[in-house]
Amino acid sequence: MTKLSVNINKIATIRNARGGNMPDLLQVARDCESFGADGITVHPRPDERHICRADVPALRAVLNTEFNIEGYPTKEFMDLVLRVKPHQVTLVPDKPDQLTSNHGWDTVAEQDFLRDILNDIRAAGIRSSIFIDADERMAEFAAKAGTDRVELYTGPYAELYPKNREAAIEPFVMAAKRVRSLGIGLNAGHDLSLKNLAYFIENIPCVDEVSIGHALICDALYMGLKDTIAAYKECLKVKK
Ligand code: PXP
Repeated sequence: MTKLSVNINKIATIRNARGGNMPDLLQVARDCESFGADGITVHPRPDERHICRADVPALRAVLNTEFNIEGYPTKEFMDLVLRVKPHQVTLVPDKPDQLTSNHGWDTVAEQDFLRDILNDIRAAGIRSSIFIDADERMAEFAAKAGTDRVELYTGPYAELYPKNREAAIEPFVMAAKRVRSLGIGLNAGHDLSLKNLAYFIENIPCVDEVSIGHALICDALYMGLKDTIAAYKECLKVKK
């Protein structure tokens, strides 16, 4: 079954708004795990506007499930992940001041840069993933660069879904087939929600992991974290 990694950036955003430790990020992460999350994702950005650098080793110490750290591979980011050694590092091509990830890597143009970074991640015994658009060529060059997995950027799927879900899913089905034929793993994330997740998984049941933050934390305001995580897990069950 597809794993659910809960992105807890938004919890850190709320905490940082007042400078104290409420909500307690480590407690929320542990609660996500006990409510059924298969992993926790964080995206430490250079300006520390949500996850701070110090949160990363602290989370590593308390988590019992899979820890995924995503980010642009600056020297500072790489020093952090190689020291903390999460289970997975997801490379995203964001600029430091970017509001949120909104496109995948150009794995053709960035081939040499990515290969060197991926070598360092592999040498540390960490699984790697590269964030890409639903594009077969980008998947091919991601595999050539030596990544263990790709994460498909699902923003365009989520945007088109309410208008035409068949058209929305089509490039993702094609890209997912190509990814599988390349023998690498498949993750997906961005703007996935209770509205669009089940259809995504019904059509692409071979997804190893989805990472979900914004919509899940918004749903938790109304449904509570426990019921929300259960509802997302339910979407991941492939209906026969
Ligand atoms: N995957 C990547 C690479 C991301 O940058 C983000 C946002 O931090 C997500 C997944 C999760 O997106 P969302 O918060 O829209 O669920």
